Amino acid sequence: MSASTTTSTVARRAAALGGGSARSLAAGPSGAKAALAVEFAGLGRTFAPSAGTVASVAARPVLRDVSLTVRAGEVLAILGTSGCGKSTLLRIAGGLDSPSTGSVQIDGSPTTAFDTRCAVGFQEPRLLPWRTVAANVSLGLPRGTAREAGRARVAELLELVGLTAFAGHRPAAISGGMAQRTSLARALARNPGVLLLDEPFGALDALTRLKMQDLLLDVHAAAPTTVLLVTHDVDEALQLADRIILLGQEPATTDAGGTRADGNARAPGATTFGATIVQELTVPGNRPRDRGSAELAELRGRLLAGLGIDRHGDARGVASSTNIPHFPY
Ligand SMILES: Nc1ncnc2c1ncn2[C@@H]1O[C@H](COP(=O)(O)OP(=O)(O)OP(=O)(O)O)[C@@H](O)[C@H]1O
Ligand SMILES: [Mg+2]
Repeated sequence: MSASTTTSTVARRAAALGGGSARSLAAGPSGAKAALAVEFAGLGRTFAPSAGTVASVAARPVLRDVSLTVRAGEVLAILGTSGCGKSTLLRIAGGLDSPSTGSVQIDGSPTTAFDTRCAVGFQEPRLLPWRTVAANVSLGLPRGTAREAGRARVAELLELVGLTAFAGHRPAAISGGMAQRTSLARALARNPGVLLLDEPFGALDALTRLKMQDLLLDVHAAAPTTVLLVTHDVDEALQLADRIILLGQEPATTDAGGTRADGNARAPGATTFGATIVQELTVPGNRPRDRGSAELAELRGRLLAGLGIDRHGDARGVASSTNIPHFPY
């Protein structure tokens, strides 16, 4: 999708998802903040054993030495096997968790707890069932938004995601795709400089998912923001992202011993884990991309190999070409 995509195109696309308004938008989403760059520097996260854990259970390094700069306005997809730390990385970026080592900066300043420069979208829409669609979207408005301005902004966003006709419905009366669009509108209501999406379309049927991917691209073109998108879907990453990183384990390192997070001695020779960036690739071509292109097929093969899936779609214990074993957690 070119940067010249108009919001009327977005509204038409949203309407095609079903239940949407066919009216075009007069203007783009108002008040959009500039997209912000995100920089991870030597980031690591180790979870201490929870209270009551037997003393022999060591602290669990989940992420280690993640260094990456996400450019303002870039769409970055994060792939990796289940449990490798994708959501943890996203949570740290948004200030919902803190790194054990290293740092994250947004627009050159450290992330703060529940950083208001970010908005988060999850796999489940997480709507309040007793509130209408419009009232759920309004929950995303920045604090202190004047009532009239808030109402106008919600109306604008509902039109953007094709839900104007459903503004007064409660979540129980809309489809899963519509609920996810409501959730996307709520995230955009904050005018985020960084949009953090954790498998946002993972619970949708295949067709709705494809349409939502197109909608996200159109929304991004109409109101550019930096997007960090966690997904399990290699094709989704290839369609949506400017760049893809694969989190995984480098060959295990041997622990030299020392002191554990709980203060007890750690025996030398124990294997330490922690996912880091094991593959990073730039996706060629403008969006929307030809899903059947040979170039994307080659990248798909590389990413699947990195995820431990061979050419025939079988999961292997170890992806020998990239040294990424299935995650041990
Ligand atoms: N608050 C926490 N306390 C202890 N361990 C945690 C905590 N949060 C996450 N973990 C552990 O960190 C590891 C990575 O979790 P995370 O949710 O980031 O994985 P993920 O890559 O998003 O997995 P999935 O693809 O299944 O969503 C898991 O082993 C998980 O149990
Ligand atoms: Mg996750």
